[in-house]
Amino acid sequence: MDNVKTIAIDGPSASGKSTVSKGVAKELGFTYVDSGALYRGVTWQALRKGVDTKDPEAVIDSMYDADWDFFVQDGATVFSIDGDVPVQELREKDVRESVANVAAIPEVRKFVVENLQSLANFGSLVMEGRDIGTVVFPDSPYKFYLDADPEERAMRRYRELVSAGEDEKAHEVMESLKKRDKIDSTRKTDPLVVAPGALVIDSTSMTLEDVIRTVIDAVMR
Ligand code: DC
Repeated sequence: MDNVKTIAIDGPSASGKSTVSKGVAKELGFTYVDSGALYRGVTWQALRKGVDTKDPEAVIDSMYDADWDFFVQDGATVFSIDGDVPVQELREKDVRESVANVAAIPEVRKFVVENLQSLANFGSLVMEGRDIGTVVFPDSPYKFYLDADPEERAMRRYRELVSAGEDEKAHEVMESLKKRDKIDSTRKTDPLVVAPGALVIDSTSMTLEDVIRTVIDAVMR
């Protein structure tokens, strides 16, 4: 475990974390972890069990009642819930609209954080999220906070959704992003903040390659 490196990449929605984290992981041969997928997984499981996601007790019960399994596939961690591996399902609108509230439930955060920490057993990781540098791996020397102007982030998310075939309006994407930013940064448990010692990268006018290079250079220093 001594040689295991954990690179923490935090930041708001649509700041480019996923693309950057995947690029860094690929170049370094590390495993990529999308921590938001676990919060989405808890939400998806609750929804498919017909649970009201505004009822924390019911969400917690459906989370603990399920059988979770983690493994590595194509350089990234994946999980199954009761034997099913949700991927596309995690991106669907009903999950997207409820996940920020589910991620604000302290017991859900505890469950997810413990599972994320145990993923270091797979080896070196690049993990993206909101609290990786502050809560999941606070002792990691490799912490980054990726940001971009809200308008730029909303445009990136809008293009992503449209190219995925979703029928969205740009102003609605902007509103939904603002709403999620607010919930994520004002919730009581582990709000999105810059971790002490994190390198802040504003990617508004940087290319993807520049951002990846900035992260790798800082890790290699
Ligand atoms: O990154 P994402 O959009 O898939 O995240 C989904 C939700 O989970 C979002 O509301 C933020 C939350 N989240 C979190 O609270 N902590 C993390 N480490 C990752 C995501």
